[in-house]
Amino acid sequence: MSKVQKVWATQILDSRGFPTVEAACQLDSGEVAVASVPGGTSTGTYEALELRDGDNQKFLGKSVYNAVKNVNEVLGPGVWGLDVNDQDKIDKRLIELDGTKNKSKYGGNAILAVSLASTKGGALANKQPLYLWVNTLAKRVGINAEIHIPSPIFNMINGGLHGAGNLDFQEFHVIPATSKTYSDSLRMGVEIYMMLGKDLDRRGAIHSVGDEGGYAPNLFTNADALEVLYEAIKQTPYQMGRDVFLGLDVAASVFYKNGEYTIRDKSAPLNDDALLDYYKYINNQYHLALIEDPFHEDAWDSWKKILEAFQGQLTIVGDDILATNMERVQKAIADKACNGILVKPNQVGTVSETLEVIKTTRDAGWKVIVSHRSGETNDWFIADFAVGVGSDYTKFGAPARGERVVKYNRLLSIESELQQKNI
Ligand code: PGA
Ligand code: ZN
Repeated sequence: MSKVQKVWATQILDSRGFPTVEAACQLDSGEVAVASVPGGTSTGTYEALELRDGDNQKFLGKSVYNAVKNVNEVLGPGVWGLDVNDQDKIDKRLIELDGTKNKSKYGGNAILAVSLASTKGGALANKQPLYLWVNTLAKRVGINAEIHIPSPIFNMINGGLHGAGNLDFQEFHVIPATSKTYSDSLRMGVEIYMMLGKDLDRRGAIHSVGDEGGYAPNLFTNADALEVLYEAIKQTPYQMGRDVFLGLDVAASVFYKNGEYTIRDKSAPLNDDALLDYYKYINNQYHLALIEDPFHEDAWDSWKKILEAFQGQLTIVGDDILATNMERVQKAIADKACNGILVKPNQVGTVSETLEVIKTTRDAGWKVIVSHRSGETNDWFIADFAVGVGSDYTKFGAPARGERVVKYNRLLSIESELQQKNI
């Protein structure tokens, strides 16, 4: 048995320059595991609470000194002496100490930092790479997780709250065919990204990058962003619909107001049915592989309609509507509202609860996409996590910017390691 001897936290910065929580977990062997927590920009209402100090004199209200203090004074001491092999017990202790439904007492960011660091501690104690240790934890909750590298979903164009441009939809994806190896998929992603940059340049469209490393151009409509992607892909050796597919994270809650969605593609605001018709039109043009958050996070009836409309054709992915939250996932399964989930550990706040959610969605036959947040650190935890749980896809942004690339590179390392070991 290897015990947690000490846990401490530090306020560090994420890729947006916002403060976030890093935790260190020291084992009785003296070894130390360090992990840090990401943060969202288009956060869903149903996520665990991200505790920020709200003191405008410090980091314009964004500091997380209280969350750090909660780790140092309550959560850390609360898990001292626990067996680091028993992640479930560690997470249950953290949940009990907080005692609220949405982790609002000590903060989901404080709790997740300890959960992630102790999971890394478990890997250290077992002398295993993190992905193998996560795989053990996944199997313990009954996930039939085969180790493989998931297919990447590249976020090539950033709009909505992530982009400096004028697009309403948040993410425009390129998704290599799942039959490709990971390293081939990454190469395709990078080549398309480079071609897209050149194309935007030629069109005179601003192409600074957004929060997730995708280009953030000003374009006439959201559909134009898909057209630009399509044109860029045509100039590469890859064929749309065979080698690569397109996808969207609409993040519709952001442009929903008083029962209507306002998007630059249409002169008047759309109701849910009109927006669904517009998705049908877009899908006819571009044969999408997935649409994430097509409607706002409480529009259950519209979600049911879109899943029915596109059944068997494409994956309807729930992010804000599900918030990696078991109750909402169970409702979505019962209601037939989605057939894919975006998994973000910081939406729920512990590794063990995240694994339970994955197990439930797997049992329902859904596609599982393990995702970063728009505010990331250079921690690659999520890459190992995606491999360990046997996810179908990863969503780590564009293949650019250090905090995104560190995760793509980690998957390359794991791919090589698996080849060496013949796994
Ligand atoms: P977020 O964006 O991290 O800002 O929530 C990611 C997403 O919506 O998928
Ligand atoms: Zn999303």
